[in-house]
Amino acid sequence: MSTAPPSSPSRSVGRAASLGGVLSVPGDKSISHRSLILNAIAQGDALVQGLSGGEDVISTMYCLQAMGVDIHPEGTEGSYRIKGSGPQLVEPADILDAGNSGTSMRLLSGILASQPFVSVITGDGSLRSRPMQRIVLPLKQMGAQIMGRQSDSLAPLTVRGGELQGIEYDLPMASAQVKSAIILAALSARGDTVIHQPALSRDHTERMVSAMGGNVEEDGLDLTVHPTQLNAVDITVPGDISSAAFWIVAGLCQRDARILVSGVGMNPSRTGIVDVLQEMGAGDGLKLVDERTEGGEPVADLQISPAELHGVEIGGDMIPRILDEVPILAVAACFASGDTVIRDAAELRVKESDRIATTVAELTRLGANIEAREDGMVIHGTGRLTGADCESHGDHRLAMSMAVAGLLAGGETTVHGAPDASVSYPEFWRDLDLLTQDAR
Ligand code: S3P
Repeated sequence: MSTAPPSSPSRSVGRAASLGGVLSVPGDKSISHRSLILNAIAQGDALVQGLSGGEDVISTMYCLQAMGVDIHPEGTEGSYRIKGSGPQLVEPADILDAGNSGTSMRLLSGILASQPFVSVITGDGSLRSRPMQRIVLPLKQMGAQIMGRQSDSLAPLTVRGGELQGIEYDLPMASAQVKSAIILAALSARGDTVIHQPALSRDHTERMVSAMGGNVEEDGLDLTVHPTQLNAVDITVPGDISSAAFWIVAGLCQRDARILVSGVGMNPSRTGIVDVLQEMGAGDGLKLVDERTEGGEPVADLQISPAELHGVEIGGDMIPRILDEVPILAVAACFASGDTVIRDAAELRVKESDRIATTVAELTRLGANIEAREDGMVIHGTGRLTGADCESHGDHRLAMSMAVAGLLAGGETTVHGAPDASVSYPEFWRDLDLLTQDAR
């Protein structure tokens, strides 16, 4: 949740006459974190290609290096060689800094829980205000000692790791970060760990652990983790569908657009944005071409052109599949006919910003007809927005969603906090320029 000052540098965006170009987006952020963390605790060494250069992933890399893991660039940009340390890391000499990254803090806590040393992990103002009890409770139950502010619910967290015991745990929310923290701890626990999920969240950890010789049995929504020593594997990280989502919505809602985004990860636990936009009428405006499997993950190129969208209702099991795309989906809904209703999405209130409040506030500034609900929002599509000053609230996805809103709105939009995009998409503003220039 955001505590960032409202004054960081800004970028102006005018309405684009047309959008066109071919681009690739950064490596998937979730898969990038996992490729570093899992290879770090594995035996052997691995080459990871296409790693995201986003600040969140760099935070994970620095934390692992601070615990003695040898990770260095090798070959082309985005390629890194990791020498697995095996399950035991080195006590960090200083506080670990997860920056803005919930994934770094929560997944790394799952590793720290079994280490025979004391560590402290912290983050920026936003991360220090996000709920950590969701990982502290199960990890304590497994035998780790963890302390944090406000009755162990907020970072900085101090972890005294040790021997862990497998547990049976009912996940209170469909969170991939919490699930992954428990899986990581369970890999070196005594006995099996059983996790009951309320709904399916992204399953990259399960897939990668299995690819590394680990044993995570899936039975519907139940997972059983058998402790195993992992073997390092080479990974090619696919493009991040959460980053591609900005160009998908920009292209669909434009009058004149032809965009190709190549090499995008199509893991079914992540493709809710494609399914929802199809339900909204995207049709041939959003085509998957050259569908293939790379490194155990489905991948496709996306062809995007304008379409007439209409409102939809989304909730329930769809929410975890579209979790990070709600702000940009809200932009699409402004240009759809009729109402779009998003419910069961209260988790959005504890992301990098309170994304229900910030999305509604910022789109309102651009003249959207949008209302916040406790667990979501209602957007009455009007087919237009009007340029205005708006704010990222220290949230990368808000900065990029408002930039796309600016491309589609009349007049000029100024996005304050534009550099926040670098948390997941360092080349976002360059790619925006490319799409508007190539179209000329
Ligand atoms: C992530 C899981 C999601 C998502 C986040 C990345 C992950 O959070 O919002 O951006 O890599 O595991 P949840 O823990 O709420 O599923």
